[in-house]
Amino acid sequence: MRIIAAKDYNDMSRKAANIISAQVILKPDCVLGLATGSSPIGTYKQLIEWYKKGDLDFSQVKTANLDEYRGLPKSNDQSYDYFMKDNFFNHININFDNLHIPDGEEPDAEKACADYDRIVAELGGVDLQLLGMGHNGHIGFNEPSDVFAKGTNCVDLQESTIEANKRFFASIDEVPRQAYTMGIGTIMSAKKILVVVSGKDKAPIVKKAFFGPITPRVPASILQLHPDVTVIADADALSECE
Ligand code: F6R
Repeated sequence: MRIIAAKDYNDMSRKAANIISAQVILKPDCVLGLATGSSPIGTYKQLIEWYKKGDLDFSQVKTANLDEYRGLPKSNDQSYDYFMKDNFFNHININFDNLHIPDGEEPDAEKACADYDRIVAELGGVDLQLLGMGHNGHIGFNEPSDVFAKGTNCVDLQESTIEANKRFFASIDEVPRQAYTMGIGTIMSAKKILVVVSGKDKAPIVKKAFFGPITPRVPASILQLHPDVTVIADADALSECE
């Protein structure tokens, strides 16, 4: 695991965008695993800027997002489908046929999960997986648990996650209670993994996840076992690591 210290959120975002750019330049038809949330927004902004300058071409890139709320229509501005279009896809020359996100509109959880596993397998796996990390160490929506989930699964969101995500909804009651998420096994099978993490509020979990014991109680801790992980963390997020 390579940990790169960034000065602040903007520096973290630029460094992460550099790594994603390199991936797209070296393999124009690569599969990018993507995340939502506040952590990668700056990275997407930077990639859009470089695309607009003519430095990047996404026309052959394929994507597979980590997760989606169950039961939220794609048209809802809090769906991850909406987020990805709004923050990234609508601003670059990506082919919309090449975008993949778990289908939150599919009520049959077993079908939604099996379909998504098949889609990721048909893509040939993920070349570069971008991740954020929750305050409880979740990656995707794989919450702390007794086991590491292998494939796509339907999860009950933890109170702390519902609490953290309520800022995006009119009230806490509107935050969906379940989500479909790519499993830890699938995340771990990505060829490369890039984690972006920023802010003092993430400092305790950065220490636990990347310097503590590997346990499904801290899902991101399993990343310590992946052969090619880069964590880009800003000074605040690294402030509890000596
Ligand atoms: C989002 C996702 C989540 C977030 C995590 C951190 O697709 O998979 O694991 O990466 O909740 O969220 P932020 O970046 O908002 O702190």
